[in-house]
Amino acid sequence: MKNINNFNLSIAIPKGYLFDECIKLLRSSGYDVSNLLKETRKLFTFSQKDNFRYVIVRPMDVPVYVEQGACDIGFAGKDVLVEMESNVLELMDLKNGKCRVILATLKDCIEKVKAHYEHFGSIKVATKYPNIARKYFDKKGMQVEIIKLYGSIELAPVLGMADEILDITATGNTLKENNLVEMETVMNSTARLIANMVSYRLKYKYINSFIKNIKSALEK
Ligand code: PRP
Repeated sequence: MKNINNFNLSIAIPKGYLFDECIKLLRSSGYDVSNLLKETRKLFTFSQKDNFRYVIVRPMDVPVYVEQGACDIGFAGKDVLVEMESNVLELMDLKNGKCRVILATLKDCIEKVKAHYEHFGSIKVATKYPNIARKYFDKKGMQVEIIKLYGSIELAPVLGMADEILDITATGNTLKENNLVEMETVMNSTARLIANMVSYRLKYKYINSFIKNIKSALEK
């Protein structure tokens, strides 16, 4: 059995909507992703061929693993990087995993939410991006109560728990199917390749060769 600490690069892979994009990109860059595709609850795996260790984590945790040096590099959405404000190097915009961070509310409720704000001087906003939300509303000079959730954000206005949500949208299907409409775009996001500051210097040879392979796959 392989030693868990014996590898050239440790790579953080996000679960969720970026997972498939990452696998596709790694494969077209010539890397062996077969172990990543196995249906298992094992949260790390190796590519013997490439001498990589892959660590599969929640999207919001990718910059944390990389900042702490448990992973040398990782794939993270710009939305996550802005939210987490981690001290990591952003190496490349991969231009895939496109989504937008938006504000949304229940269909036909835009005017009602405005009136609520005018009357009470505050609204409730559910989000898994409390930092982005706080900064966005501070900049607008609006008072909001932020309700931090870890998923299924669209449920909050449907169940009367929040007036608005600040969340990501890609296809728009989740908004539509839950009777929500977009109000504003807060930011655009794409997937980024990030690196640990120290790893970038100490493992420059491996990281540079990884970047080259990813770049040529993106140019294909
Ligand atoms: C994300 C996001 C939206 C959905 C948007 O959730 O929070 O709910 O995707 O995608 P769409 O516009 O293509 O429908 P995710 O699937 O990551 O699950 P979560 O709700 O558990 O965070």
